[in-house]
Formats: sequence, C-alpha cells, structure tokens
Amino acid sequence: MRPNSFSDMSEAPLRHVRQPLPHDSAAKHVQGSAAYIDDLPEPAGCLHIAIGGSPMARGSLMAVGLERVRAIQGVVAVLTAADIPGKNDISPTFDDEPLLAAREVIFHGQPVFAVVAETRDAARRAARLGALTIAQEKPSVTVEDAQARGETVLPDYAFQRGDAPATIGAAPHQLAGTFRIGGQEHFYLEGQVALAIPGEDGSMHVHSSTQHPTEIQHVCARVLGVADALVTAEVRRMGGGFGGKESQASQWAAMAALAARVTGRPCKIRLDRDDDMAMTGKRHDFRVDYAVGFDDDGRIQGVEMAFLARCGCSADLSQGVVDRTMFHADSSYFLPELIIGTRRLKTNTVSNTAFRGFGGPQGMLAMERIIDQIAWRLGRDPLDVRKANHYGPERDVTPYGMTVEDHDVGAAILEQLEASSDYRARREAIAAFNATSPILRKGIALTPVKFGISFTLSHLNQAGALVHVYSDGSIQLNHGGTEMGQGLYQKVAQVVAEEFGVGMDRVRITATTTDKVPNTSPTAASSGSDLNGMAAQIAARQIRERMAVLAGEHFGVPAAEVQFRDDHVFAGNESVSFAELAKRAHMARIHLSAAGHYATPKLHWDRPNGQGRPFFYFAYGAACAEVVIDTLTGENRVLRVDILHDVGHSLNPALDIGQIEGGFVQGMGWLTTEELVYDKDGRLRTHAPSTYKIPVASDMPADFRVTLFGGANREETIYRSKAVGEPPVMLANAVFGAIADAVQSLAPGRPVVLDAPATPEAILKAVQAVASAG
Ligand code: MTE
Ligand code: MOS
Repeated sequence: MRPNSFSDMSEAPLRHVRQPLPHDSAAKHVQGSAAYIDDLPEPAGCLHIAIGGSPMARGSLMAVGLERVRAIQGVVAVLTAADIPGKNDISPTFDDEPLLAAREVIFHGQPVFAVVAETRDAARRAARLGALTIAQEKPSVTVEDAQARGETVLPDYAFQRGDAPATIGAAPHQLAGTFRIGGQEHFYLEGQVALAIPGEDGSMHVHSSTQHPTEIQHVCARVLGVADALVTAEVRRMGGGFGGKESQASQWAAMAALAARVTGRPCKIRLDRDDDMAMTGKRHDFRVDYAVGFDDDGRIQGVEMAFLARCGCSADLSQGVVDRTMFHADSSYFLPELIIGTRRLKTNTVSNTAFRGFGGPQGMLAMERIIDQIAWRLGRDPLDVRKANHYGPERDVTPYGMTVEDHDVGAAILEQLEASSDYRARREAIAAFNATSPILRKGIALTPVKFGISFTLSHLNQAGALVHVYSDGSIQLNHGGTEMGQGLYQKVAQVVAEEFGVGMDRVRITATTTDKVPNTSPTAASSGSDLNGMAAQIAARQIRERMAVLAGEHFGVPAAEVQFRDDHVFAGNESVSFAELAKRAHMARIHLSAAGHYATPKLHWDRPNGQGRPFFYFAYGAACAEVVIDTLTGENRVLRVDILHDVGHSLNPALDIGQIEGGFVQGMGWLTTEELVYDKDGRLRTHAPSTYKIPVASDMPADFRVTLFGGANREETIYRSKAVGEPPVMLANAVFGAIADAVQSLAPGRPVVLDAPATPEAILKAVQAVASAG
C-alpha cells in the first residue's frame, strides 16, 4: 500500500489536516482538569514509596541498616536489592544499571533502598533514617578523571574520511582549541511518577509517565521475573518528557511494581523535585578538542574533532546519543576530510540520557564554534563563512556517507532569512552602536539547522495503531505514540478524522497502552507523527475501504467512487450519514476495527563501517539572533529573533509553531542560563530551581518572529509533513553565536574563549580574557 497516494492526489480540500487546530487538551491544560498520574483517583489501600539514596558517589556498600526506618509508624515494607524476584537491572540495553544498589554505589543519590508506607509523608521521613556503611573511593567526576582511570561505558567510535591531519597541516590556515559544552536538566513540570496496581496471576498494571510504555513493560517484567504478557503499561499524557522519560521512567515504574508485588497493594511513587534532579539523567556534557585547516575563504579542508562525553555511571542511551553527536558534527557543512572521534566516559555521576536533540545539539554547536573561530581569524562575517561551507552541488556527502539530496532547501532557508531578517543592515547598525558604546555591546548571528530524521537504531523506525469505529459512528483511536505536550495525539486524530471525512469531535483519542498496540518504539527522535500518523492512516483506510464496499453495493456504484466527507458518505447522487453507514456495516457483519503498521522505507545503516543512510530525510531551519551584553556584569538580553523553519507541509501549523518557539527557548536556556554544577565529591549542587535557572516567560525574546518555510517534504511522509519536535532546539545556536559576536566586538581578530552555557559569569570571564589579551 502507498499510504500517501490518496491524500496527495486528492483534489478535495483538507478539512482537518494542515489546519491550525488547538491541542486536544489545551482547555484542560489551562483549566487544570487534564489528568496526570498523580491526579488519578488512588485505588483503595494505595501505598506510597520514598527512596533512600547513596550519600557517596563511589564505593563498596558494606551494610544497609534499616532498623530505624522500619520503626517509623506507617511503614509497611522496606525494600533492598535482595527483595527483587527477577533481575536487578533497569538498563535499556547494556545490563549495567541496577534498580537498587547491591554491592557498590556508583553515583551520589543512587537508590539503595525504598520505603513503602501508608502515607507519602511517612515514607519520606523514614527514608532519611537509613544507616549506610560504604567503603568510600574517590569518584570520577569529570571527563578528565575518567580519562585518567581509562573508564568508559562503551567503546570509542569514529567517522573518518581522507587524511585529515595531513590536510590540516598543509592548509593555508590552521586553528586548534578546546571547547566545553554543558549538560541540561529536563525540568519537565510533571516529575517522574508511577502507580502500579497488582492483578490476578502475577499480572501488573503500571501507570507511568513515560515516553516508552513498551520499555516500562519490559523492565517491570524483567525485575518481577514474569513474562511481558503479564505487565501492561499505560500513559495518557506526560507533563513534559523532553527525552527525560525515554529510559529514565523505568526505574520508578519498576520500583512501584516491585513494591506492589511485595506488599500485594497498589503502590505509587512520585519523586520530589530535588530527588528527581539528583536521581535522573540529563543531557550529556562534553569536552571537544578540535583542529581545523581552511583556505582564504574560510572553506574547511580538513577537520579533527574529539568529543569526550560525560556519560555518567552507566551506558543508558549513550550509544545512540553520542552517535547522534557525530551525525551532527558537520552541522550544515561539507567536510572534505575529517576525523570525528568520540569517547564515552564513565563517571560517578547520574547516567546521562536522551534530551531533545539526542546529542545532536552538542555536535552542531561544536562545529558552529569552529566556524566562528575561522571567521574571526580571517576577519570575515561568520555568515559568509557559513555559506562558503554549506552543502551544495558536488559537496553533498556527509561524514557518514549519506548524500544530502536536498541541500538546496537548507541553502534557500539561509538566503531567505538573511533577507527577511535584514541581516546585513543590522550588522552595520550594530557596528555603529558598538562604536559609541563601550559598556553595552551588541552582537548578531545567523546559523543554520539540519537535523536527521529517523532513529539511527533502524529497527525502531516502525509503529502500530488501532482504530475502532463503533456502530454509532464514533471512533476510537489508539497508537504507540505518547503525548508529552507536543500535540501528537491531536495530529494523528486529524489524520484519522480526515480519512473518514468526519468532524474532530467524532474521534476519541485514548491513552497509550501496551495491551492495545504492542512492541512499540519510544516516542522520540521527533518521529512520533511521521510513524504513528502513517500507522493510523493505514488502519483507518482499511475500515474506510470496507465501508466503501458496502456503500458502493448499496447504491450501485464502484467502491472506488464512494467519498467520505462532511460526516457523510457519498455514492453517485446518493448519500448516507457516516453514523448510519457504521450502523448498517455492523448489521451486515463487517469488521469495524483495524490495526495498522508502518515501517519507514529507505533506511540502512552499517555502524561498524560508519556508512549508509541512517536518516529518511533532514529537517532544516535557520535563526538570526541579536543580543546585547553588559561588559561590566555579563548580563545579557536577547533583543530579536527571526526564525525560518522547515516543517514540510505542516500537519498543524499552530502546534508546529508552538514546537519551534518552545524548542528554541529550551535551547536558549541550555546555552545561556542552565548550568549543572557537580562538586568534587560528585554531588549535584544545582538540584532545585533555586540554583538551576530555566528560562521563564520574561526571557522570551522581546521581538520574536517565527515563519514556516513552505514546501512539501520530498520524501513520502504523512501528508508530506516533516518532524518538528527536536530540530528547533538547535536554532538557539544563533543566540550563543550572537553573544560570542558581542564579546568579539571588543577585540576584533582575537579569539573569544567562551564555553557553553554563556552564563553572565562565563560572559564576564570571556570579556575580561579578550580585554587582557590585548
Ligand atoms: N514538546 C513538549 N511540549 N513536551 C515535550 O516533552 N519533547 C520533545 C519534543 N517536543 C517534548 C516536546 C522531544 S525530546 C521529542 S523527541 C519530541 O517532542 C517527541 O514527540 P514527536 O516525535 O511527536 O515530535
Ligand atoms: Mo527526544 S530526546 O528523542 O525524546
């Protein structure tokens, strides 16, 4: 079946798809009536869990004293690794992460025991009273610590083309340096939470705030030592995930399931914010060492990049995340010869994980920093160096052997944004401003985004959906994708309503659950609507075709001529309401339920050789940011942002613009205010909003202009749309570039040393460094 042929060939105007319809839960979100897991009515006898965490980052666990914990009134059970009936492992792939520490502790705050009590308050009070005896060792906190010990979570991996060191050595110009890129806390508004309800015969129903219900099912089954078929995982919505609930929800779901198994009662765990920040993984931070050789136009001839990733105490998703850093280290530029190397270092910090962009933003930012350095060295406008290096004809093969077939889209976006943002005139106006403003300095930058769409673990690129039409003509829609605020449910419902030609009110969206659609992939890699939209369309189309045959027979026209629109079914000059036809179909014993399955075409990836086509297509965009910094305090403000972003033919422009704005601001937070600080003992010092600053409404750029770049996806995606969830994060690279540009204006030609995030302290240091270098 060619799933898109109908929609693309149809002359009929679309009624729902491509319309800026509100999020299905928008009203409930603002009214406070959207139910999150902690809002569900608690089952009778529900118990509450609190965690006892390790007070040290590394050492051998000698004894766990729990007498005082058990003595607290209301405590029903205290669980340690010894209580686990199945396997003590919650890792997604590499068998290296215990649910509860057994012999050793590997990061500060690591769960060692769990208190199960009648009230949350009792559980939390008791959890503080554990007496842990630990033979302490010096932790590896930084990548340098781990390098010195030679400890990694996964083997080194590199892309290579040509003889980069020789080419760099022979190039007209060379640069080398080191750049650090900070991590990021997800700060979803709804923290990690799970509710497990035990059932008959060892079964378990788990409500989990997760992007990956199937993994919740697998991990709970593994920990309980039961078959997957005994566990059902369910999630109606998350209050944000951002990658932080792709693998990180497993531990809490498994904890609740274990407690429910041991006590025989429903058990709930909801981490408080400090525990959530200390006990769950974050965006990977990096040290990047680079050397680059380039010509007089700033064109890169050869580049070497070594990415040292702080992966934390286990592998978690570091294979895919750090691979994606490599896939995006080219940013939008052709690199004739290269070595892009990665080392995945094991540190005694919480295990880093997926975060919007999945490692891609770090790779892209590193390359954009190199481009800036080249521009400053040559005294050129960084935008000209960007354009000189952009993928183009004959310069179109990525470091991993995939041809960028539509580089003209990226180039066109850069050109259009340069014009629409008035970049050149504003660059001059900024120079004039700076000429008479020694304290406040302005800067501007225009940077591109090219983001590969598909899971690089190829088998994840599949999805299933289940659609029911009831005999009253109402429709239930279920698919493997999860809703975390991005509007996936709404987009897929639009596709299904379009297919049946009915109003949106007829389509009931139901919670994602592993007993309706099995063996699902996580909702991640921005692929939710690409995959589930297709699967749901395929499911709906089967039912529609069965109904069309019936209508055709009834009215004496070929089924192919039967049309579904305006809540009616038209055949020749006759029509019948959709509800009436559903009833007749049921009476005629026609199956009104269907499952759909979709697998992304064209993908192949040979990881050992670093060659193939890991991505179905690329999403493009560009941003121009103007900032002002105060050179006495390091304070900064984003004055204006212009964004032109490619979402193909948008499924829903309102939701897509929301994703672009939100992604951009989240990226801006990562690069400007959000700073994770671990002390020398491996303790996260920034574990609450008092010390960790995310952007708020007042940090939005005062002048913020977002435009969608028109044009169909050239690949056959659902209604020729493109994924939008993650790419906009990297638009924020323009803010970092603009800040660096403002600093650079103080001493043109001198390199700016500015690591990410560009906090006021970092900016002040950079200002003082360029000033004193003169
Ligand atoms: N938008 C909101 N509001 N909340 C979120 O948690 N997660 C992002 C992005 N946009 C997120 C979000 C991440 S990390 C991904 S991978 C995608 O949404 C996942 O959803 P999609 O595949 O449906 O775009
Ligand atoms: Mo998104 S980081 O792929 O969950």
